[in-house]
Amino acid sequence: MPRLEAFQGDITQQAVDAIVNAANTTLLGGGGVDGAIHRAAGPELLEECRQIGGCPTGEARITRGYRLPARYVIHTVGPVWSGGGRGEPELLRGCYENALRLARGHGVASVAFPSISTGAYRYPIEQAASVAVEAVRRELREPGPVELVRFVCFSAGDLQVYRRLLGA
Ligand code: AR6
Repeated sequence: MPRLEAFQGDITQQAVDAIVNAANTTLLGGGGVDGAIHRAAGPELLEECRQIGGCPTGEARITRGYRLPARYVIHTVGPVWSGGGRGEPELLRGCYENALRLARGHGVASVAFPSISTGAYRYPIEQAASVAVEAVRRELREPGPVELVRFVCFSAGDLQVYRRLLGA
């Protein structure tokens, strides 16, 4: 079984094969972790994203990492929280599953996720983290190249939530 760990820090500084971006459907950048990733990767990232032409909620797309330590950026679009009755959990699960499928398809051994949807999109952290950990565990049951999944938390509070779920 691959290693799952939680870490507090900045995802743009992670020396892993791929980092995941919490993007929006345009893939043309934004605030939060999306803005930080584009700033750190440089303008070539936006150019490649422009050529992709967008991404539906729950799906994922892969690009190069340019000036980032990570070789790839996997862009996924989380759901906007509107109470939980509009398919938010299924869409969020799709983000983690589809990102890991792309990682696997590109021979990625280590991948770092931010806490998708829990910033601007207001998904409650406890519920989002539980969907995230469950989806990753399930997706990694099948053998593949991924050996490490790191959940990168921006705040100490988020880190506590993930640590508890991971049983650390
Ligand atoms: N490293 C790790 N986590 C971070 C970083 C960072 N450098 N910066 C912020 N976070 P958000 P969303 C955390 O809002 O809710 C964008 O404008 C942040 O504290 O970035 O999926 C997109 O373009 C929070 O825990 O993403 C979309 O329009 C988590 O990352 C929209 O926001 C996610 O917060 C997506 O909203």
